[in-house]
Amino acid sequence: MGLVWTKELSVGNAIIDAEHSNLIDMINDVRHGIKARNCSAMQRAFEMLDNWLCEHFLYEEMLARAIKFPFCQHRLAQQHSLRELRHMRGELLGKGGIWSDGAANHFTQSLKNWAVNEHIIKLDMLMKPALQNYDYNFMPDYGHDEAAHNAGELQIP
Ligand SMILES: [Fe+2]
Repeated sequence: MGLVWTKELSVGNAIIDAEHSNLIDMINDVRHGIKARNCSAMQRAFEMLDNWLCEHFLYEEMLARAIKFPFCQHRLAQQHSLRELRHMRGELLGKGGIWSDGAANHFTQSLKNWAVNEHIIKLDMLMKPALQNYDYNFMPDYGHDEAAHNAGELQIP
């Protein structure tokens, strides 16, 4: 069974929660490609996930600025986690679709851990206390946020 977003994973903001639910769906797509040993499907799913994550990270930064949450450490952690994900993608693609059931389990478990434990629970949950001072449906003002004008700066070597 695929991973499912539950309210225990809520960080206290409707848009971020919806995005995290989407994140979990995308992780499920990658996991499915791994289990099926379908390299092209897995690669497509990884690419979609990577592109989407860059947008997600920028949105989180914009939201953090709006609620005055200090984001410097958070940004470093995001960049580190993106490198980890890309490393995992490189390892899998290097194997060309040939891996044991044990390896498939290892990678699918690592992806779950990456998305749910590391990204949502350990990292984004840090914003929850600050977000709880705002309405659940709070949105930053896109038009006046510097981060919106810097979109595309999140290039991870
Ligand atoms: Fe997030």
